[in-house]
Amino acid sequence: MFKNILLTGNRLPRIRNALQLVIPLFIKYRLRILVGFMALLTVDLLQLMIPRVIKSAIDSLQFATASPASLLQHGMLVVGFALAIACCRFGWRYLILGFSRMLERDLRNRMLAKLVRLDRPFFNRRSTGEIMALSSNDLAAVQMACGIGLVSCVDAIMMTTAALFFMAYIHPQLTMIALAPMPILALLTGLLTKLLHRRFSRVQEQFSRMTEFARSTLSAIRLIKAYTQEGPQTGYFAKMGREYVKNNLRLAVVQGALFPFSTLIANASLLLVIYFGGRLTIAGTISIGDFVAFMTYLFLMTWPMMAIGWVTTLFQRGLTSLDRINQVLMEEPVVQEPLAPLPMPLTNRRISVRNLIFSHVAQQHEPILDGINLEIPPGFLGIVGKTGSGKTTLCQLLARIYPVAGNQLFWEDIDVNRLSLAEVRARIAYVPQDTLLFSDTIGANIGFGNPDADQAEIEQAASLAAIHDEIIGFEKGYQARVGERGLLLSGGQRQRITLARALLMDRPVIIIDDGLSAVDTDTEHRIISNFKEWLPGRTCIMASHRVAPIMAADQIVVMEGGRITDRGSHHDLLDSNRFYKTIYNHQMSTGGAGN
Ligand SMILES: Nc1ncnc2c1ncn2[C@@H]1O[C@H](COP(=O)(O)OP(=O)(O)O)[C@@H](O)[C@H]1O
Ligand SMILES: [Mg+2]
Repeated sequence: MFKNILLTGNRLPRIRNALQLVIPLFIKYRLRILVGFMALLTVDLLQLMIPRVIKSAIDSLQFATASPASLLQHGMLVVGFALAIACCRFGWRYLILGFSRMLERDLRNRMLAKLVRLDRPFFNRRSTGEIMALSSNDLAAVQMACGIGLVSCVDAIMMTTAALFFMAYIHPQLTMIALAPMPILALLTGLLTKLLHRRFSRVQEQFSRMTEFARSTLSAIRLIKAYTQEGPQTGYFAKMGREYVKNNLRLAVVQGALFPFSTLIANASLLLVIYFGGRLTIAGTISIGDFVAFMTYLFLMTWPMMAIGWVTTLFQRGLTSLDRINQVLMEEPVVQEPLAPLPMPLTNRRISVRNLIFSHVAQQHEPILDGINLEIPPGFLGIVGKTGSGKTTLCQLLARIYPVAGNQLFWEDIDVNRLSLAEVRARIAYVPQDTLLFSDTIGANIGFGNPDADQAEIEQAASLAAIHDEIIGFEKGYQARVGERGLLLSGGQRQRITLARALLMDRPVIIIDDGLSAVDTDTEHRIISNFKEWLPGRTCIMASHRVAPIMAADQIVVMEGGRITDRGSHHDLLDSNRFYKTIYNHQMSTGGAGN
């Protein structure tokens, strides 16, 4: 699922692309970063001064020039430095780590802005769990790299260079000896880091799988209860959890090895310094103060040496995550706005479908829609057909959710591809097959598409959808909350609320995809007769696998296997179409439920 960009080919352009995402943010917050790094620099300089003070104190003892007052002075100086270090440390943490949080926020905002713009084909490809992992784990990795990672890197470089300089100033040869084990350290941490990175990716993938599983389990909780699948689901999740722990432990082995090995090598350095530096001190080549200062510098260098591996990992993780985020940010909606849209036709809303062919996958043998021809004047069009016959797909194409090839769908004889996508969509109220309600009040759910609507308009739409009476029957009426920790609504109630939401938008074209499938026959009758009054001048397209909701349509088309096999009024079809007659009779005899 996730490709590790650092292990795959043509990585440079991708890395460059990914970096281009954060560079503008570094520029935007440059002042904060600059002051932050100045504070960091001050911390490092002061830290490097401390060994000098210690050296001078020890030397004054060795050469018997020390007095209680001068020793106190040295001590006070160290305390003063420590105080200044504490202040500056607070400063850089506040500024740089704050910057990394701002960067995270900006990226997150951009991601959400992109996600809401992307269309159905993208969400068909990417699972919600994967997207959620992007905005939690991956964003966190980028934030870490740009915050603590960057600080540690700069800090390590400055400390190492400065400590090296001071050590070489004391004794160049001793410095060379002390550094002898360092290449081994670098090599070892390099190797371990690579391993660490690979195992970390595996942990990340597993986490994303688990998130997706938990999400889909929770959203299908009713199904799981109905099919008494709690046991198997829990078992499967537990198995994923065990896998996750196993992967994490494999990661921990490497993480655990990194630190002790680095310390071991650092201690080897210390051993060399004690032995060779001690001999130099005995011989009087360097003073005791120099010897102690040298060891303090070596000690100051140990942390940066150990940090190399960790910082490299942070950067690699950050870069991989940044690339993943960038892949999403580079996505574009499949259905695009034309560059120079033609003006929208104004009055008559004749929609024409001409020899429409559609497949989700290019070059599919059997297209999902195959040669659809349809004239849709204002009025009521019914689309009836068995499940899988292509009704939903046709509705989605009419609603401009999936792309349509040129010369197949027209508004007023203008190819829709040449009209502004936003304007076409703004003329259509689309009620998708799966009802979707937000966990908000019923009123807010109905008003969603039309935030300016007042209570009277909301109630009017609810009355049209034959749900008003039931809503005022609830304890809190329109203020009752739906969904999580709220009201449990029946399938039919949910469908009618989504219908009211679409009606409230008051758009010239309304497309209802199987929107009455869970509504009882009487209520269905009421809605259809309400519709008749509301309809004049508008276009209503209703798809249904049952005959009852579309019986009253001006024109009915019968779909089978992605084609329109017949058309006419209810009575025409009842006379002439055997398929239509069969489902009609069947549904009437089973009380209209017909599933
Ligand atoms: N996103 C998709 N990718 C691939 N095939 C799909 C997709 N959505 C629907 N189909 C297929 O298209 C066919 C028609 O489905 P649909 O339009 O939902 O029919 P209906 O609404 O009449 O039940 C079915 O065979 C279905 O499997
Ligand atoms: Mg359908």
